[in-house]
Amino acid sequence: MGQNKKIIVMASGTGSILKALIAAELPIVAVVTDRKCPAEDIARDGNIKCIRVTRDSFGETFDRKSYTDKLLTAILEINPDLIAMAGFGTVLSEDLEKRFPNRVLNTHPSLLPLFKGWHAVRDALAADVKVTGCTIHIATAELDAGPILYQQEVPIMPGDSEESLHKRIKEVEKIIYPKVIRQFLDSDCNLQPMNIELH
Ligand code: GAR
Repeated sequence: MGQNKKIIVMASGTGSILKALIAAELPIVAVVTDRKCPAEDIARDGNIKCIRVTRDSFGETFDRKSYTDKLLTAILEINPDLIAMAGFGTVLSEDLEKRFPNRVLNTHPSLLPLFKGWHAVRDALAADVKVTGCTIHIATAELDAGPILYQQEVPIMPGDSEESLHKRIKEVEKIIYPKVIRQFLDSDCNLQPMNIELH
């Protein structure tokens, strides 16, 4: 991978995927969060600059456009080659995609297009499917709908809870997301679905 590539990771949660991306020694230059969250501690432990662009409203009053503008101002100061969402909890306006076309990746805990949205694991259990998984895709203005780069199945076990199933999916995400990011950058952001060596 070109030594000068710059990646920004965006996170809002526990940061376990972020931790895997850091461990894979990807060129992460900053972590952006939208709230106080454990992912910020993981960034600091990895000596990575952490920028919080606080989202101050979660209701109908949320101004997606001006929040995205604020976030873009922070991101553009760094001018990354790639933005990797890792459990980022805010849907952004189309301005992000316009400014970084095909340069924003997301990992999602289902086999898209099945189970879009914030409760993908719960919804897969409720649908009583036998297999779910995770999807790495290009993030576009439409939620969980951009071009798919890689998917990996994860079986649902008898007695699985949302927590146990999500934990197993995350174990897979931690392996595949760093590989997909590296391969995506190495291919100069080719949008074709990928083959990934899992081991
Ligand atoms: C991951 O499972 C990721 O796929 C999911 O959030 C989790 C983040 O985990 N993202 C979404 O559901 C996006 N729709 P983490 O906070 O432990 O890194």
